[in-house]
Amino acid sequence: MTTDTLSRRVLRYAHAQGTGRSQFPTPAQVAEASGPLPDGAAGADRSPLPHGTTELLERAAFPAGRVAGADRLPERALLAAFGLQRAELTNPYFEHRALPSVRSLFPVHAFLTGEGPARVLDVHRHALAELPGAARDQARRILLAGRYTRLPAFYGPLRGTLTELELGISLRSLAVGLELFGLEGRLSLPVSGGDLTSLGLADGEWSWPLAVDLEDAAGSGRAPAPPAAGPRDARDGEPLRAAAPADPSLDEILSVNRAQAALPHEDPAPLAPAIPHGAAAGRDLSWAEALWERGSGRMPRGLTGMAGRLRRVPEDSLAGAAAWAAVPPPGALLRRVAEHVNVTVAVQATDGFEDGVHRLAGGRLLPHRPGPGALAALERDYGYRLAPGNGCDVRHAAAVWFCSVRQHELVAELGPGAWTLAQYVAGWITQGLCLNAAAHGLYARPARAFDGLAVQRPLGLAPDETVLLSVISGTPRFNGLPLDLRL
Ligand SMILES: Cc1cc2nc3c(=O)[nH]c(=O)nc-3n(C[C@H](O)[C@H](O)[C@H](O)COP(=O)(O)O)c2cc1C
Repeated sequence: MTTDTLSRRVLRYAHAQGTGRSQFPTPAQVAEASGPLPDGAAGADRSPLPHGTTELLERAAFPAGRVAGADRLPERALLAAFGLQRAELTNPYFEHRALPSVRSLFPVHAFLTGEGPARVLDVHRHALAELPGAARDQARRILLAGRYTRLPAFYGPLRGTLTELELGISLRSLAVGLELFGLEGRLSLPVSGGDLTSLGLADGEWSWPLAVDLEDAAGSGRAPAPPAAGPRDARDGEPLRAAAPADPSLDEILSVNRAQAALPHEDPAPLAPAIPHGAAAGRDLSWAEALWERGSGRMPRGLTGMAGRLRRVPEDSLAGAAAWAAVPPPGALLRRVAEHVNVTVAVQATDGFEDGVHRLAGGRLLPHRPGPGALAALERDYGYRLAPGNGCDVRHAAAVWFCSVRQHELVAELGPGAWTLAQYVAGWITQGLCLNAAAHGLYARPARAFDGLAVQRPLGLAPDETVLLSVISGTPRFNGLPLDLRL
């Protein structure tokens, strides 16, 4: 061992014993939290990302401000969308970004092609890491792909829906990042596994990627990529993963994701606008602050869940949320799917709105089941109950949102690929709700933990209507100690 290495070890040992250091995760815990990069990328060449993105975003007022005169725009947009924001020292989930992720596991990765070798965003090294197995000379694009195996195996088939919901959340976050830096993106939905092959990713554990062709606002981007040739699509009865440990629910997840092969062809569709005109903030704040503030609610002392305070909230916080939820997703096909996705919200203690259940229609919330007590009733149907080790404050929230769909009708009308598209749509809406909440000093916690059958009656859903995702939003009771990780 060299003296240098030994010195580093001694210093880390000394540091770990300093006052309050037990609150900090060990390097091994941080590595676990960050999750593995695609195979081979961690040891590959990497190019550093620019610094100062937060300072640029501080000059853009929320919601209408945009960043002018910046360099390295795609990298800045990636950092705004997916970069590290803060570590929370008393949160069991260590790192936090401008978008939520199941247990902060971040199964979705962002890839940049067409500017040198294909690279993956490595937020922990603040770099773009080369992908050893990727094709060279690809079109100028950002691709988003989810690694199902990043989520614990005991989640079973839920790994599929959660990852695809996060793809929708990531797509909205990317769309906002591009818009803030004046870049135009055009979305291609995946209809083959060609993009996975081009990125050199293993067919058996990744979703098919969403691909966004890049142009700057002046339209000087290169031509969109031609559709990539697929390696192979799902064929009846044939396993998609060749030599891997048996994981029947992963096989099922992959075949459902690959049902997107049946989607009709669509030309790449503009991502913008992702930020609604009707957006508002509770106070003057910059985009840097809004992204920093986004959070799912917390508990003290490393406990899980969230604690809230029942506080009257202003009309703008709910009207603004409706405006964010009503922004249509990109492209005619996703919009047709969005027409099937119902947005229902249980509300209390909100100026300008009657307590009770409302439905989103034409960008406005209309009373659906008026009456007090809807949130207290919903808390009984939430999976993570109040317990000595877990906070649960649905009853004290200001609003609980539900995206739901009648899946038989959806698949009958738009085909089997539409189920995955419905996850993207729910994710797209969710990220809008999260950003709106941040701008009003509220938390917004996405949750799959409501009992989908039990909530049908109080929400007035149809008996064959499935909840895709819900979002609990209210005033946080505990703000914790954040560590600023922005660069
Ligand atoms: C698709 C999705 C589903 C989630 N489901 C739950 C849930 O059922 N219960 C819960 O407490 N948190 C849930 N979360 C919230 C995450 O645990 C939370 O985002 C994570 O702890 C990071 O915290 P932050 O959002 O404050 O950064 C979910 C998040 C996502 C993106």
